[in-house]
Amino acid sequence: MSKIDFYHVNYENLVINLEPSMNQNHPFRQDTYFGLTVDVLGAGKNCGLRMARGPLPTCRPSHIAIRGEQSTESHMARRKLVYEGKAKILYEGPEPGTLVQYFKDDATAFNAEKKDIVEGKGVLNNRLSEFFMTGLNTLGIPTHFIKSLNMREQLIRAVEIVPLEVIVRNYAAGTMSKRLGIEEGTALPRPIVEFCLKDDSLGDPLVSEEHIIAFNWASQQDLDDMLALALRVNDFLSGVMYGVGIRVADFKIEIGRVYEGDYQRLIIADEISPDSCRLWDLKTGEKFDKDVFRRDLGSLTDAYAEVARRLGVLPENPVPIGKPTLIN
Ligand code: CDP
Repeated sequence: MSKIDFYHVNYENLVINLEPSMNQNHPFRQDTYFGLTVDVLGAGKNCGLRMARGPLPTCRPSHIAIRGEQSTESHMARRKLVYEGKAKILYEGPEPGTLVQYFKDDATAFNAEKKDIVEGKGVLNNRLSEFFMTGLNTLGIPTHFIKSLNMREQLIRAVEIVPLEVIVRNYAAGTMSKRLGIEEGTALPRPIVEFCLKDDSLGDPLVSEEHIIAFNWASQQDLDDMLALALRVNDFLSGVMYGVGIRVADFKIEIGRVYEGDYQRLIIADEISPDSCRLWDLKTGEKFDKDVFRRDLGSLTDAYAEVARRLGVLPENPVPIGKPTLIN
């Protein structure tokens, strides 16, 4: 076998057992064993390795592992980088009109004035964003998400991002509390949608619909569509999270244009994760979102993992340990 193509081979049930010594105490990491890039699940005694989700590989796993020379690094090096942001990287996808979205462990806040690496955050956000986007797609609320590739990467549709951040608020918090003097946690009379210009150098300023139309950042029709999309996402997100005892105080989405012939459509893009939401425990008010990092409230990974655990999106039964052999 000359090459492993990560896009055309699926490794759902490929499991490699490791000696405990081969795994350090780092859950949610990507590493290379036997020349094969794998996602490491769990840590220490409970460690296990598993490739991306999907059906069984079409070729024998031993071929992949023993003859394959592939590693994430060499694979990524051959890929064309399209864009690197604060928390994600976009690579050219396998087909025109697609991209690979890679979730980094970098955490930033206050317009990148506060920075850190939070081990495992990228894995959690990848899974959570996949979960939310898949749910939206299923309900007919279109998103850029196509399929999961591995623990840090997903295949997405390439879109032309509308240069606006769309914020939906159910409870006062953050800049709304500061700007309007409304105490954090106050229930709003109805969901309020705000638009901010996507411009880090200006600190993503709040803009009015007048600005948006006058400066041609979006048309009136786009605005109406964005408002409708944002409110549908809010109903979905709030409902799903209510089911696991979490309140969605606010969140931000980004929206992209896709062209189908002469026809333009708006779809949800970027990510939906605790990085871009405010999530509060319904009973205790405990925060499970980026405010944990912004305000030094504890472990960000623990907070995001709690959201993932409640939603059931991380595997709970890691693979038992054995000799470092490949099993089918
Ligand atoms: O987050 P911050 O207090 O700076 O601003 P906000 O306007 O209160 O944010 C409202 C919601 O949008 C929060 O859930 C933020 O996490 C999210 N947001 C975001 O994801 N990215 C931004 N650039 C700004 C806000």
